[in-house]
Amino acid sequence: MADTFRVALSGDFRKVDGSLTFPDFDLTPLRQAPGVEVEFIEAANPLRAEQLEDFDALILLIHRFAPESVPKSGRLGVVARFGVGYDTVDVDACTKAGIALVITPDGVRRPVAVSIITLMLALTGKLMVKDKITRQGPDGFNTRVDYMGVGLVGRTLGSLGIGNIGAEMFRMAKPFDMKFIACDPYADKEVAKELGIELVSLEDLFKRADVLSISVPLSPETHHIVNAERIGLMKPTAYLINTARGPIVDQKALTKALQEKRIAGAGLDVLEKEPPDADDSILKLDNVILAPHALCWTDQCFAGNGAADVKAVLEVQHGRVPRGVVNRPVLDSEIWKKRLEENRKRFGD
Ligand SMILES: NC(=O)c1ccc[n+]([C@@H]2O[C@H](COP(=O)([O-])OP(=O)(O)OC[C@H]3O[C@@H](n4cnc5c(N)ncnc54)[C@H](O)[C@@H]3O)[C@@H](O)[C@H]2O)c1
Repeated sequence: MADTFRVALSGDFRKVDGSLTFPDFDLTPLRQAPGVEVEFIEAANPLRAEQLEDFDALILLIHRFAPESVPKSGRLGVVARFGVGYDTVDVDACTKAGIALVITPDGVRRPVAVSIITLMLALTGKLMVKDKITRQGPDGFNTRVDYMGVGLVGRTLGSLGIGNIGAEMFRMAKPFDMKFIACDPYADKEVAKELGIELVSLEDLFKRADVLSISVPLSPETHHIVNAERIGLMKPTAYLINTARGPIVDQKALTKALQEKRIAGAGLDVLEKEPPDADDSILKLDNVILAPHALCWTDQCFAGNGAADVKAVLEVQHGRVPRGVVNRPVLDSEIWKKRLEENRKRFGD
């Protein structure tokens, strides 16, 4: 049995020049951990099985982990995604191979919630257009009366999804004195109660929200859940914010609604196609604020995700179940239990 616990970092953690993509991801605790070896693997998308044969753990950025990425050696025991979205990982393939898939909810919760609040304040405060007219000198400045913002007190903030990020958004929005509504069929009712969130139907969410934010995972159930029909239910004064995943929103339908000014505006950190084509019509609209799937990217977000992944990997090394396991059934599988037992013997509790 190998006496080192080998950890692979997906190739996209390094830039083409070899420097770290995210220097705030501190690898020191991993590199200094007794018995651990760390190696960057070559960039490949999806990852190839032969790249991972000799590793116990993989820390994964954006590259896909597909069924053909599962190494045959049976050594790989944990895939730690850097972030909480895992639509790039084939969960069934992991479970079948006894590999735990781990995400980092603690790292992204606050940074993404801050992104939602940022977009809400920028949209309702008409920040982008006010910046633009100010730069135009006196002619622009004098048009400021045409760009009245929208106050938030008593207005309704809605969320599709009140998990890790959705709930944090409401926590952060408390001082704005808004009404809170959410639709989440799997919601923790205690959390909703604690935060003063009224749980409503999908239809009511779209009808009642003045600011509607999306915080659900992308799944067959949520793909295009924001479609023409539901956008049609929104108030003409309402704003839509999506920081979750692009394909949750039917972008063609949203673009049309924004072009026809059927809603007041949108704030999108994510798009159906990333990066978008240069001639994508959504890029031409001035009632949308866009970000390149990076509004939550801060030093603290990357440090937090990295620390959570390192912790998870070291837990597995020592034979303990890490936090943030997505495919919980794997924890009952014989292959996983045997692996943890072996790790415990190899590296102690
Ligand atoms: N923009 C970014 O950089 C960024 C960063 C992190 C996460 N995200 C995205 O944000 C999403 C949410 O993250 P999270 O940590 O809050 O996840 P989470 O799993 O904690 O919460 C998701 C919530 O959505 C609910 N949900 C699932 N299906 C639903 C449906 N059909 N209708 C209504 N609610 C439904 C779940 O019950 C859960 O409460 C992630 O899946 C990820 O795609 C984006």
